[in-house]
Amino acid sequence: MLCYENVSVAYGNGVPALLDFSLEVTRGEIVALVGESGSGKTTAIRAVMGLLPGGGRVVRGDIRFEGRSILGMSMGEWRALRGGPISMIFQDSGSMLNPIRTIGSQFVEYIRAHESKPQKEAWERGRVMLERMGLPHSQTIMKSYPFQLSGGMRQRVGIAMSMVFQPRILLADEPTSALDVTTQSQIVSQMMALREEYNTSIVLVTHNLGMAAYMADRIFVMTQGRIVDAGDREQILKHPDTAYTCELLGAVPAMKGKRYV
Ligand SMILES: Nc1ncnc2c1ncn2[C@@H]1O[C@H](COP(=O)(O)OP(=O)(O)OP(=O)(O)O)[C@@H](O)[C@H]1O
Ligand SMILES: [Mg+2]
Repeated sequence: MLCYENVSVAYGNGVPALLDFSLEVTRGEIVALVGESGSGKTTAIRAVMGLLPGGGRVVRGDIRFEGRSILGMSMGEWRALRGGPISMIFQDSGSMLNPIRTIGSQFVEYIRAHESKPQKEAWERGRVMLERMGLPHSQTIMKSYPFQLSGGMRQRVGIAMSMVFQPRILLADEPTSALDVTTQSQIVSQMMALREEYNTSIVLVTHNLGMAAYMADRIFVMTQGRIVDAGDREQILKHPDTAYTCELLGAVPAMKGKRYV
């Protein structure tokens, strides 16, 4: 489905932010990337979207989606993938919203840019997605401007948009770190439901090992641009290979009031 082959990424300063990174995500699989700040997690998923900031570029290796090299694609082909079969949730997805337009008009436009649907149908589809993200007064929210919502509400609008087309792969970069625990578990449930219903594969970047333990089939531990530990959830959690993983496991918050680690 999504395959990284010995990928290295460098930014302007030439220091590799990702080094010889290899990972294959199969259909319907959830993999988690965990590791310290600056270890290259965001770089790894942004590389798929062609959204590396600051002159970042893939200097070695290849990334394939459903067998096709993504790196060789034209801008048009790339754009067709993004927001359709491949979707991304950013840590601050909410801040991508246009401040001077209502949520509803942006959501409707987003839906209609991908599918030719009547205005009313697109509105309803957007509204229902908001409800599923735990935003009950969805009609009011659709009519609101971003500044009238809290940061957590805006983030959920962003997440709703990223999930509306049932992507084949969802790249989620710290999707819930700005949200309270109750909302976090609601979003986690929605991501799991997306996998259940549509067999969506998910690459989850998180600092929250509890969340990784709860969601992921496989966990990849990163430090300094490299994968240092990898394996099935149980293997990583119960029999970590490296001292670094043990250290990470040291402080783990609880999910839904339960410890999964
Ligand atoms: N725009 C940029 N310009 C130059 N270097 C960058 C840029 N973005 C990231 N880097 C470098 O790439 C490396 C990996 O950063 P990245 O953002 O991928 O880490 P991360 O694992 O996502 O960290 P965090 O957990 O803090 O989000 C870091 O050393 C960082 O300094
Ligand atoms: Mg990051």
